[in-house]
Amino acid sequence: MIKIAPSILAADPLNLERDVHRAEEAGCDWLHVDVMDAHFVPNLAYTPAVVARLRETVRLPLDVHLMMDHPETLLDAFLDAGADTVTLHAEIEGDLPGMLRHIRGRGRQAGLALRPGTPLETIQELLPMTDLVLAMTVEPGFGGQELEMPVIGKIQSLRDSGYPGWIEADGGLKEDNLGILLSAGLTVAVMGTALFHQRDLKATVSRLHAMKPGEVHG
Ligand code: DX5
Ligand code: ZN
Repeated sequence: MIKIAPSILAADPLNLERDVHRAEEAGCDWLHVDVMDAHFVPNLAYTPAVVARLRETVRLPLDVHLMMDHPETLLDAFLDAGADTVTLHAEIEGDLPGMLRHIRGRGRQAGLALRPGTPLETIQELLPMTDLVLAMTVEPGFGGQELEMPVIGKIQSLRDSGYPGWIEADGGLKEDNLGILLSAGLTVAVMGTALFHQRDLKATVSRLHAMKPGEVHG
């Protein structure tokens, strides 16, 4: 069954505790925490201190997406705060193999994220060091954008390669495009706007969990 990971970038920052409890009670599987440094992406979001409070507040696994250059400066801070998965961007400078090994060495899941324009081949040799690949379906930095359909091919190639880890997509996912992503092999769906703006979150999450590959909900 698909894992539903609400992205707290779309939550109300002044009512984050309320929104993460809503997500947990609605049956979501992971909590997707976007971290932005206003350098790798033109936006700022969330800190290790917020991750630490989220760890004390919800039982959901924390899926931390580092949209930042030089993540080595804060990697242990996010791991100490309780991140269960830490995903680095393949486009950054730095010792990606070393950082992936470090994340796994601390008993967590290591992920690599690809911008829509970054080919899968870029991370071919690193795949064995990862537990998750995040195929960004929008340019990182902001929620509420339209899903870039060509990325579906990247998800399909990853699945067809027999990649054993999680295959995650992030950006513009909605009930009406999840079916096609499932057909391509998606196993974790990050959803921000499509979830947090729902009145009946529980019913929405139940429908998403029940969706079959190729199913289209208008
Ligand atoms: C964008 C973030 C996504 C974003 C998804 O850079 O990585 O997690 O919040 O939001 P929606 O689902 O609203 O596109
Ligand atoms: Zn994200």
